[in-house]
Amino acid sequence: MLTFNTIQQVRQQVADWKQQGRRIAFVPTMGNLHAGHLSLMEQLKGDEVCLIVSIYVNPLQFGKNEDFGTYPRTLDEDSQKLEQLGVDLLYLPESTEIYPDGPEAATRVIVPGLADILEGESRPGFFTGVATVVNKLFNIVQPDVACFGAKDYQQLQIIRRMVADLAMPVEIVSAPTIREPDGLAMSSRNQYLTAEERIHAAKLNVCLQHLVKDASQGTDSNYAVIHATQELEANAFNVDYIVVRRQQDLGVPEPGDTQLVALAAVKLGKTRLIDNICFEINNT
Ligand code: PAJ
Repeated sequence: MLTFNTIQQVRQQVADWKQQGRRIAFVPTMGNLHAGHLSLMEQLKGDEVCLIVSIYVNPLQFGKNEDFGTYPRTLDEDSQKLEQLGVDLLYLPESTEIYPDGPEAATRVIVPGLADILEGESRPGFFTGVATVVNKLFNIVQPDVACFGAKDYQQLQIIRRMVADLAMPVEIVSAPTIREPDGLAMSSRNQYLTAEERIHAAKLNVCLQHLVKDASQGTDSNYAVIHATQELEANAFNVDYIVVRRQQDLGVPEPGDTQLVALAAVKLGKTRLIDNICFEINNT
């Protein structure tokens, strides 16, 4: 596995591969890799494909009081996992190249509307940070295809929107959420949970499943959401939001909408957890 730090090295390698007619597949990450991340890479692996993974803890997407400083950085383990998986190139960007004049001074990519609701409302500037860095990474790596996890459903839709709006020549594919045996969605932030919180955390997905069941059976969605909120609170979660939205644009569903997604964000102690479940309702 090649490991590069500079834009110039990555560009040169990608140019060589493209000249050989190889397809470039890309998975951007912030590292501390778990089975969820690795499933994205598995999904892109193939004969004629060169697989590039980036690890970069992007300062622009962290709020002032968030965990940029303490976000787990485990480069040696990550690198071993990527090597074993058969990744061709690991790109470890330098902040001096990603944000030459510092993150605050950087040109930004703003996705209005979609970036302002749900996660965007709770974490102002978060999706601008994500869209900006992903745009820059795409410009450096020039992938034919890139994979994002459905675990971060709103992020996935924002990337799709950015790519469509800016006519970026990259195909976006999604990969399903990988879970622990008890249903908790895998996340680098799960390790912040205490042993007791970790046991409780699995209830988040259980409550979402109940909401999906209620909404699918035609229960009034306001009532279903109130019920789900109560259930989360009874399990010691501090509820940020739990909602049912349209899959495509995360808008409030209207009669006739059938492709829906239940999304939730909660705090358990100091740890913020998100999860979602896509589902379909039959309106006939
Ligand atoms: P990170 O949290 O490291 O996630 C990298 C990718 O892994 C994202 O596409 C995310 O949705 C996916 N992922 C994380 N947990 C998953 C799980 N349990 N199952 C399936 N996929 C999972 O998301 C980011 O980094 C950053 O915002 C980034 C896109 C790299 C921009 O900085």
